[in-house]
Amino acid sequence: MTFLKVKEIYKTYRSGLRGKVEVLKGISFDVEEGEFFVILGPSGCGKSTLLNLIAGLEKPDRGEIILKGRVVSSPRVCVPPHERDLSMVFQSYALYPHMTVYGNIEFPLKMAKVDKKERERRVREVAELLRISHLLNSKPSELSGGERQRVALGRALVKKPSLILMDEPLSNIDASLRQEMRLEIKRIQRETRTTFLYVTHDQIEAMALADKLMIMREGRAEQIGDPAEVYKNPETPFVASFLGMNVISRKVLLKDGRTYIRLGNWECYVEGQEGEEIVIGIRPEYISLRRGKSFVITSVERIGNETLVYLEGDGVRLVAKEKGGYVTEGGRVDIAVYKFKIFL
Ligand SMILES: Nc1ncnc2c1ncn2[C@@H]1O[C@H](COP(=O)(O)OP(=O)(O)O)[C@@H](O)[C@H]1O
Ligand SMILES: [Mg+2]
Repeated sequence: MTFLKVKEIYKTYRSGLRGKVEVLKGISFDVEEGEFFVILGPSGCGKSTLLNLIAGLEKPDRGEIILKGRVVSSPRVCVPPHERDLSMVFQSYALYPHMTVYGNIEFPLKMAKVDKKERERRVREVAELLRISHLLNSKPSELSGGERQRVALGRALVKKPSLILMDEPLSNIDASLRQEMRLEIKRIQRETRTTFLYVTHDQIEAMALADKLMIMREGRAEQIGDPAEVYKNPETPFVASFLGMNVISRKVLLKDGRTYIRLGNWECYVEGQEGEEIVIGIRPEYISLRRGKSFVITSVERIGNETLVYLEGDGVRLVAKEKGGYVTEGGRVDIAVYKFKIFL
């Protein structure tokens, strides 16, 4: 049995200013038990709406959500959130400011009328898992962003739900802490074997966390798969550019009876009709640079031992990944392309 089945969900909002806004347009996907499922998409594509529907905070116009074999959402059915055996972690944490960390984590158990002894045992167990036992008597205002995030996660975990929904949980955390929290979340998911459905607009976060990745665009699933596979084989230009590929449109040219495309100094034979536009994707690591004329270097970004080089020329912008250190802003280069993909 599929753990979570989202089937052909449609959702439209009616807002005073914009009239009807169709946010979800027939989205479907399956999540398996114990999986870390990541939904990646740009701001406004409907990610939060989708999570709210799965949580039971909203109702779909059409379609069904089936959790562990039971229809929990449809136009006629809406099982209330507390009967769904799931917890949700929001971007804003939503901790109770007047309660201690202990009180915050304990709260869902109190609501569920768990007895006091058992509550204490569970709060301490979760605090240990999250490494915040020393903070149990603090108030949220005394904590750092990363610590607050742990408390929010603790509150979600304490009831041992079979599904945890997370809506951009790291977007309010300093960049320096984000990687650490990412590893933490992954560790906790592995240790508790809970199914996680995690929403983000951050490509790196999605790649680092996902067992299964879904790229979302304008209320639809654009591609679903193993993250390495999606990265290697993006099916559409949208997925490709969202995952950091250069996506470029070129006109097919004809020379000596053979068709080819040109990008600055680089030329390559392709199949096609003269004058036809084709769209290609090139990973930054498959472009190498040498001194030349075709492209001007508009900026250089060094990240660890990698250098991202931004180029402009022949009507396009490109980014290349280089190991060498000779590149400088304002310099001119030619390119070689080792590998590229043609989108049909
Ligand atoms: N309650 C609402 N009423 C009207 N429009 C909404 C409402 N909630 C979200 N929207 C609109 O739906 C679209 C998707 O929003 P959202 O699901 O929050 O996207 P994401 O989380 O991917 O950024 C946006 O255009 C947003 O303005
Ligand atoms: Mg959102």
